[in-house]
Amino acid sequence: MEKDLQAIVDEATQKLNSVTDRPGWDSVKATILGPNGSLTQLGKGIGKLAKEDRPVFGQKLNRTKKEIEAIFKSSLSLIEEKEDLEILGPEIDPTLPPPSNFTGGTHPLTNTRRKIVSIFRKIGFTVAEASETETEWFCFDALNTPEDHPARDEQDTLFFPPNSNWSNIKQKNKESFVLRTHTSSVQIRTLLREKPPLRIIAPGRCFRRDTVDATHSANFHQTEGLYVDQNVTIKDLKGVLDFFLKELFGNKVETRLRPSFFPFTEPSFEVDLRAPNIGKLSDQWIEIMGCGMVDPKVLQLVDLNPDEWSGFAFGMGIERIAMILHGIDDIRHFYNNDFRFLSQFSHSS
Ligand code: DAH
Repeated sequence: MEKDLQAIVDEATQKLNSVTDRPGWDSVKATILGPNGSLTQLGKGIGKLAKEDRPVFGQKLNRTKKEIEAIFKSSLSLIEEKEDLEILGPEIDPTLPPPSNFTGGTHPLTNTRRKIVSIFRKIGFTVAEASETETEWFCFDALNTPEDHPARDEQDTLFFPPNSNWSNIKQKNKESFVLRTHTSSVQIRTLLREKPPLRIIAPGRCFRRDTVDATHSANFHQTEGLYVDQNVTIKDLKGVLDFFLKELFGNKVETRLRPSFFPFTEPSFEVDLRAPNIGKLSDQWIEIMGCGMVDPKVLQLVDLNPDEWSGFAFGMGIERIAMILHGIDDIRHFYNNDFRFLSQFSHSS
Protein backbone atom coordinates (compact mmCIF):
# COMPACT_ATOMS: atom_id res chain seq x y z
CA MET A 1 0.00 0.00 0.00
CA GLU A 2 2.94 2.29 0.57
CA LYS A 3 3.87 1.85 -3.02
CA ASP A 4 0.36 2.84 -3.94
CA LEU A 5 0.69 6.06 -1.96
CA GLN A 6 3.86 7.00 -3.81
CA ALA A 7 2.17 6.12 -7.10
CA ILE A 8 -0.62 8.58 -6.31
CA VAL A 9 1.90 11.33 -5.56
CA ASP A 10 3.54 10.62 -8.92
CA GLU A 11 0.16 10.53 -10.63
CA ALA A 12 -0.78 13.95 -9.20
CA THR A 13 2.56 15.50 -10.19
CA GLN A 14 2.37 14.12 -13.69
CA LYS A 15 -1.23 15.07 -14.36
CA LEU A 16 -0.73 18.61 -13.02
CA ASN A 17 2.26 19.11 -15.28
CA SER A 18 -0.01 19.28 -18.30
CA VAL A 19 -2.75 21.38 -16.64
CA THR A 20 -2.92 25.03 -17.78
CA ASP A 21 -6.22 26.34 -16.45
CA ARG A 22 -8.57 26.17 -13.53
CA PRO A 23 -11.15 23.74 -14.98
CA GLY A 24 -8.29 21.31 -15.81
CA TRP A 25 -6.92 21.71 -12.30
CA ASP A 26 -10.38 21.05 -10.80
CA SER A 27 -10.84 17.85 -12.76
CA VAL A 28 -7.39 16.49 -11.82
CA LYS A 29 -8.18 17.29 -8.21
CA ALA A 30 -11.40 15.30 -8.46
CA THR A 31 -9.55 12.24 -9.78
CA ILE A 32 -7.32 12.19 -6.70
CA LEU A 33 -8.92 14.00 -3.78
CA GLY A 34 -12.60 13.81 -4.83
CA PRO A 35 -15.01 11.26 -3.32
CA ASN A 36 -14.08 8.76 -6.02
CA GLY A 37 -10.50 9.94 -6.26
CA SER A 38 -7.61 7.51 -6.03
CA LEU A 39 -6.35 8.76 -2.66
CA THR A 40 -9.85 8.73 -1.12
CA GLN A 41 -10.44 5.21 -2.38
CA LEU A 42 -7.09 4.02 -1.02
CA GLY A 43 -7.95 5.55 2.36
CA LYS A 44 -11.13 3.55 2.45
CA GLY A 45 -9.01 0.38 2.25
CA ILE A 46 -7.73 0.96 5.78
CA GLY A 47 -10.51 -1.22 7.17
CA LYS A 48 -9.10 -4.23 5.42
CA LEU A 49 -5.73 -3.92 7.20
CA ALA A 50 -4.81 -5.78 10.35
CA LYS A 51 -5.66 -3.73 13.39
CA GLU A 52 -2.03 -3.15 14.41
CA ASP A 53 -1.06 -1.92 10.94
CA ARG A 54 -3.78 0.66 10.76
CA PRO A 55 -2.19 3.52 12.83
CA VAL A 56 1.04 3.44 10.81
CA PHE A 57 -0.83 3.42 7.52
CA GLY A 58 -3.11 6.17 8.79
CA GLN A 59 -0.12 8.41 9.51
CA LYS A 60 1.39 7.73 6.10
CA LEU A 61 -1.92 8.41 4.44
CA ASN A 62 -2.19 11.79 6.20
CA ARG A 63 1.36 12.74 5.27
CA THR A 64 0.75 11.83 1.66
CA LYS A 65 -2.50 13.80 1.67
CA LYS A 66 -0.67 16.89 2.94
CA GLU A 67 2.06 16.41 0.34
CA ILE A 68 -0.51 16.10 -2.44
CA GLU A 69 -2.42 19.15 -1.21
CA ALA A 70 0.80 21.17 -1.30
CA ILE A 71 1.42 20.01 -4.87
CA PHE A 72 -2.10 21.13 -5.84
CA LYS A 73 -1.64 24.45 -4.07
CA SER A 74 1.54 25.33 -5.87
CA SER A 75 0.02 24.24 -9.18
CA LEU A 76 -2.96 26.54 -8.51
CA SER A 77 -0.76 29.52 -7.75
CA LEU A 78 0.97 29.05 -11.11
CA ILE A 79 -2.42 29.04 -12.82
CA GLU A 80 -3.47 32.19 -10.91
CA GLU A 81 -0.31 33.96 -11.90
CA LYS A 82 -1.00 33.09 -15.51
CA GLU A 83 -4.57 34.41 -15.18
CA ASP A 84 -3.28 37.71 -13.71
CA LEU A 85 -0.84 38.12 -16.57
CA GLU A 86 -3.65 37.55 -19.07
CA ILE A 87 -5.66 40.35 -17.42
CA LEU A 88 -2.65 42.68 -17.44
CA GLY A 89 -2.06 42.05 -21.15
CA PRO A 90 1.22 41.94 -22.99
CA GLU A 91 4.36 43.21 -21.36
CA ILE A 92 4.93 46.95 -21.82
CA ASP A 93 8.16 48.58 -22.76
CA PRO A 94 8.09 51.82 -20.73
CA THR A 95 10.77 53.39 -22.90
CA LEU A 96 8.49 53.46 -25.96
CA PRO A 97 6.62 56.72 -26.77
CA PRO A 98 2.90 56.72 -25.80
CA PRO A 99 0.47 55.67 -28.58
CA SER A 100 -1.26 59.08 -28.61
CA ASN A 101 -1.32 62.23 -26.55
CA PHE A 102 -5.12 62.56 -26.59
CA THR A 103 -6.28 64.53 -23.56
CA GLY A 104 -9.92 65.28 -24.38
CA GLY A 105 -11.18 68.73 -25.26
CA THR A 106 -14.05 71.14 -25.12
CA HIS A 107 -16.99 71.11 -27.54
CA PRO A 108 -16.85 73.71 -30.34
CA LEU A 109 -20.06 75.30 -29.00
CA THR A 110 -18.44 75.65 -25.58
CA ASN A 111 -15.38 77.22 -27.20
CA THR A 112 -17.57 79.69 -29.10
CA ARG A 113 -19.64 80.57 -26.04
CA ARG A 114 -16.47 81.20 -24.03
CA LYS A 115 -15.07 83.39 -26.78
CA ILE A 116 -18.26 85.47 -26.88
CA VAL A 117 -18.36 85.81 -23.10
CA SER A 118 -14.72 86.82 -22.88
CA ILE A 119 -15.19 89.61 -25.45
CA PHE A 120 -18.18 91.10 -23.66
CA ARG A 121 -16.42 90.75 -20.32
CA LYS A 122 -13.75 93.16 -21.60
CA ILE A 123 -16.39 95.91 -21.81
CA GLY A 124 -18.04 95.27 -18.48
CA PHE A 125 -20.77 92.74 -19.27
CA THR A 126 -21.41 89.97 -16.75
CA VAL A 127 -23.08 86.62 -17.36
CA ALA A 128 -26.70 86.16 -16.30
CA GLU A 129 -28.49 82.83 -16.29
CA ALA A 130 -32.01 81.55 -15.87
CA SER A 131 -33.83 78.28 -16.27
CA GLU A 132 -34.41 76.54 -19.62
CA THR A 133 -37.98 75.97 -18.49
CA GLU A 134 -39.88 79.25 -18.62
CA THR A 135 -43.40 80.51 -18.31
CA GLU A 136 -45.36 82.13 -21.10
CA TRP A 137 -45.28 85.46 -19.31
CA PHE A 138 -41.48 85.64 -19.08
CA CYS A 139 -40.91 84.17 -22.54
CA PHE A 140 -43.55 86.24 -24.36
CA ASP A 141 -45.91 88.64 -22.51
CA ALA A 142 -43.21 90.55 -20.63
CA LEU A 143 -41.37 90.86 -23.93
CA ASN A 144 -44.38 92.63 -25.41
CA THR A 145 -45.29 89.63 -27.57
CA PRO A 146 -49.06 89.56 -28.08
CA GLU A 147 -51.22 86.51 -27.37
CA ASP A 148 -51.77 85.84 -31.08
CA HIS A 149 -48.11 86.16 -32.14
CA PRO A 150 -47.10 83.21 -34.34
CA ALA A 151 -44.04 82.43 -32.15
CA ARG A 152 -46.47 81.45 -29.36
CA ASP A 153 -48.21 78.91 -31.56
CA GLU A 154 -48.08 75.29 -30.38
CA GLN A 155 -46.47 74.50 -33.72
CA ASP A 156 -43.48 76.65 -32.79
CA THR A 157 -43.19 76.48 -29.02
CA LEU A 158 -42.91 73.40 -26.80
CA PHE A 159 -45.54 73.75 -24.07
CA PHE A 160 -45.64 71.64 -20.92
CA PRO A 161 -48.95 69.87 -20.19
CA PRO A 162 -51.49 72.22 -18.50
CA ASN A 163 -51.16 70.80 -14.97
CA SER A 164 -47.34 70.74 -14.87
CA ASN A 165 -45.88 72.25 -11.75
CA TRP A 166 -42.37 73.61 -11.46
CA SER A 167 -42.18 74.91 -7.95
CA ASN A 168 -38.70 76.39 -8.50
CA ILE A 169 -39.80 78.53 -11.47
CA LYS A 170 -41.72 81.67 -10.61
CA GLN A 171 -44.91 82.26 -12.55
CA LYS A 172 -46.42 85.71 -12.97
CA ASN A 173 -50.01 84.48 -12.87
CA LYS A 174 -51.13 80.94 -13.55
CA GLU A 175 -49.72 80.91 -17.08
CA SER A 176 -48.36 77.78 -18.85
CA PHE A 177 -44.85 76.51 -18.65
CA VAL A 178 -42.82 76.30 -21.87
CA LEU A 179 -39.29 75.39 -22.90
CA ARG A 180 -37.78 78.80 -23.60
CA THR A 181 -37.71 79.64 -27.29
CA HIS A 182 -35.04 82.31 -26.84
CA THR A 183 -32.75 83.65 -24.14
CA SER A 184 -34.56 87.02 -24.24
CA SER A 185 -36.54 85.85 -21.21
CA VAL A 186 -33.35 86.26 -19.14
CA GLN A 187 -33.70 90.04 -19.76
CA ILE A 188 -36.94 89.98 -17.77
CA ARG A 189 -35.68 87.69 -15.00
CA THR A 190 -32.66 89.98 -14.56
CA LEU A 191 -34.56 93.27 -14.69
CA LEU A 192 -36.94 92.03 -11.99
CA ARG A 193 -34.03 91.01 -9.77
CA GLU A 194 -31.47 93.78 -10.27
CA LYS A 195 -31.71 97.53 -10.52
CA PRO A 196 -30.08 99.30 -13.49
CA PRO A 197 -27.56 100.40 -14.62
CA LEU A 198 -26.77 96.89 -15.82
CA ARG A 199 -24.95 95.11 -18.62
CA ILE A 200 -25.48 91.40 -19.03
CA ILE A 201 -25.09 88.67 -21.56
CA ALA A 202 -27.07 85.48 -21.15
CA PRO A 203 -25.81 82.45 -23.02
CA GLY A 204 -27.96 79.34 -22.88
CA ARG A 205 -29.94 76.58 -24.50
CA CYS A 206 -33.24 77.21 -26.29
CA PHE A 207 -35.89 74.98 -27.81
CA ARG A 208 -38.25 75.30 -30.75
CA ARG A 209 -40.60 72.94 -32.47
CA ASP A 210 -38.46 73.01 -35.61
CA THR A 211 -37.96 70.24 -38.13
CA VAL A 212 -34.30 69.33 -38.05
CA ASP A 213 -32.28 70.11 -41.18
CA ALA A 214 -28.86 71.55 -42.03
CA THR A 215 -29.70 74.92 -40.47
CA HIS A 216 -32.43 74.09 -37.92
CA SER A 217 -32.40 72.14 -34.71
CA ALA A 218 -35.13 71.76 -32.10
CA ASN A 219 -32.47 72.39 -29.48
CA PHE A 220 -29.92 75.16 -30.01
CA HIS A 221 -28.05 77.90 -28.17
CA GLN A 222 -28.28 81.68 -28.08
CA THR A 223 -26.58 84.56 -26.35
CA GLU A 224 -28.78 87.42 -25.30
CA GLY A 225 -27.36 90.83 -24.43
CA LEU A 226 -28.94 93.66 -22.45
CA TYR A 227 -27.66 97.11 -21.52
CA VAL A 228 -29.88 99.41 -19.44
CA ASP A 229 -28.77 102.81 -18.16
CA GLN A 230 -29.68 106.47 -18.55
CA ASN A 231 -29.52 108.08 -22.00
CA VAL A 232 -28.54 104.92 -23.88
CA THR A 233 -28.67 105.48 -27.64
CA ILE A 234 -28.41 103.55 -30.90
CA LYS A 235 -24.83 104.83 -31.10
CA ASP A 236 -24.01 102.85 -27.96
CA LEU A 237 -25.64 99.78 -29.47
CA LYS A 238 -23.70 100.10 -32.72
CA GLY A 239 -20.43 100.79 -30.85
CA VAL A 240 -20.78 97.70 -28.64
CA LEU A 241 -21.74 95.40 -31.51
CA ASP A 242 -18.97 96.73 -33.77
CA PHE A 243 -16.44 96.14 -31.02
CA PHE A 244 -17.74 92.61 -30.46
CA LEU A 245 -17.76 91.65 -34.14
CA LYS A 246 -14.29 93.11 -34.74
CA GLU A 247 -12.91 91.12 -31.80
CA LEU A 248 -14.57 87.99 -33.15
CA PHE A 249 -13.93 88.26 -36.89
CA GLY A 250 -11.00 90.68 -37.08
CA ASN A 251 -10.58 94.38 -37.79
CA LYS A 252 -11.53 94.13 -41.46
CA VAL A 253 -15.15 93.24 -40.65
CA GLU A 254 -17.81 95.73 -41.78
CA THR A 255 -21.20 95.87 -40.09
CA ARG A 256 -24.55 97.40 -40.87
CA LEU A 257 -27.89 97.69 -39.11
CA ARG A 258 -30.87 96.83 -41.28
CA PRO A 259 -34.37 97.85 -40.06
CA SER A 260 -36.42 94.91 -38.81
CA PHE A 261 -39.07 94.09 -36.24
CA PHE A 262 -39.03 92.41 -32.84
CA PRO A 263 -41.86 92.93 -30.34
CA PHE A 264 -39.49 93.79 -27.49
CA THR A 265 -37.30 96.40 -29.22
CA GLU A 266 -38.20 99.66 -30.93
CA PRO A 267 -36.58 100.43 -33.29
CA SER A 268 -35.36 96.92 -34.19
CA PHE A 269 -32.58 95.85 -36.53
CA GLU A 270 -30.90 92.86 -38.06
CA VAL A 271 -27.11 93.12 -37.89
CA ASP A 272 -25.28 92.13 -41.09
CA LEU A 273 -21.55 91.69 -41.46
CA ARG A 274 -19.12 91.44 -44.33
CA ALA A 275 -15.61 90.05 -43.81
CA PRO A 276 -12.80 88.96 -46.12
CA ASN A 277 -11.66 85.99 -44.04
CA ILE A 278 -14.65 83.73 -43.51
CA GLY A 279 -14.19 81.12 -46.22
CA LYS A 280 -17.08 80.64 -48.64
CA LEU A 281 -19.01 83.42 -46.91
CA SER A 282 -16.24 85.99 -47.43
CA ASP A 283 -17.04 89.39 -48.96
CA GLN A 284 -20.81 89.11 -48.87
CA TRP A 285 -23.33 90.57 -46.44
CA ILE A 286 -24.57 87.93 -44.03
CA GLU A 287 -27.11 88.23 -41.25
CA ILE A 288 -25.64 87.58 -37.83
CA MET A 289 -28.07 88.71 -35.11
CA GLY A 290 -31.10 90.73 -34.08
CA CYS A 291 -31.01 93.83 -31.90
CA GLY A 292 -32.74 97.07 -31.02
CA MET A 293 -33.55 99.64 -28.36
CA VAL A 294 -35.51 98.11 -25.48
CA ASP A 295 -39.19 98.89 -26.09
CA PRO A 296 -40.56 101.29 -23.39
CA LYS A 297 -43.43 98.82 -22.85
CA VAL A 298 -40.93 96.18 -21.72
CA LEU A 299 -39.40 98.62 -19.24
CA GLN A 300 -42.86 99.43 -17.87
CA LEU A 301 -43.70 95.73 -17.47
CA VAL A 302 -40.71 95.36 -15.14
CA ASP A 303 -41.58 98.57 -13.25
CA LEU A 304 -38.90 100.80 -14.74
CA ASN A 305 -39.77 104.32 -15.80
CA PRO A 306 -39.00 104.67 -19.56
CA ASP A 307 -38.47 108.41 -19.09
CA GLU A 308 -35.65 107.67 -16.70
CA TRP A 309 -34.17 104.48 -18.17
CA SER A 310 -33.30 103.34 -21.68
CA GLY A 311 -31.39 100.45 -23.11
CA PHE A 312 -30.51 98.18 -25.97
CA ALA A 313 -30.74 94.42 -26.42
CA PHE A 314 -29.40 91.91 -28.88
CA GLY A 315 -29.59 88.18 -29.47
CA MET A 316 -27.55 85.78 -31.56
CA GLY A 317 -27.32 82.06 -32.23
CA ILE A 318 -24.14 80.45 -30.89
CA GLU A 319 -24.31 77.68 -33.50
CA ARG A 320 -24.50 80.27 -36.28
CA ILE A 321 -21.43 82.10 -35.00
CA ALA A 322 -19.51 78.81 -34.65
CA MET A 323 -20.55 77.75 -38.17
CA ILE A 324 -19.30 81.03 -39.67
CA LEU A 325 -16.06 81.02 -37.66
CA HIS A 326 -15.18 77.45 -38.62
CA GLY A 327 -16.84 77.06 -42.04
CA ILE A 328 -19.27 74.39 -40.81
CA ASP A 329 -22.19 73.87 -43.18
CA ASP A 330 -24.51 71.60 -41.20
CA ILE A 331 -25.80 72.35 -37.67
CA ARG A 332 -26.32 68.63 -36.99
CA HIS A 333 -22.56 68.10 -36.73
CA PHE A 334 -22.70 69.81 -33.33
CA TYR A 335 -24.97 67.17 -31.83
CA ASN A 336 -23.93 63.90 -33.47
CA ASN A 337 -20.92 63.38 -31.22
CA ASP A 338 -18.80 62.19 -34.12
CA PHE A 339 -15.29 62.11 -32.74
CA ARG A 340 -13.80 62.88 -36.18
CA PHE A 341 -15.68 66.20 -36.14
CA LEU A 342 -15.24 67.08 -32.47
CA SER A 343 -11.53 66.30 -32.32
CA GLN A 344 -10.84 69.05 -34.86
CA PHE A 345 -11.77 71.63 -32.23
CA SER A 346 -10.29 70.10 -29.12
CA HIS A 347 -7.31 72.42 -29.11
CA SER A 348 -9.00 75.73 -29.85
CA SER A 349 -10.39 77.66 -26.93
N1 DAH B 1 -35.00 86.72 -29.39
C1 DAH B 1 -34.69 86.89 -30.79
C2 DAH B 1 -34.77 85.54 -31.50
O1 DAH B 1 -34.80 84.52 -30.86
C3 DAH B 1 -33.33 87.48 -30.98
C4 DAH B 1 -33.27 88.89 -30.57
C5 DAH B 1 -33.59 89.89 -31.47
C6 DAH B 1 -32.94 89.26 -29.28
C7 DAH B 1 -33.56 91.22 -31.11
C8 DAH B 1 -32.89 90.59 -28.90
C9 DAH B 1 -33.21 91.57 -29.85
O2 DAH B 1 -32.57 90.99 -27.69
O3 DAH B 1 -33.18 92.89 -29.47
O4 DAH B 1 -34.78 85.49 -32.69
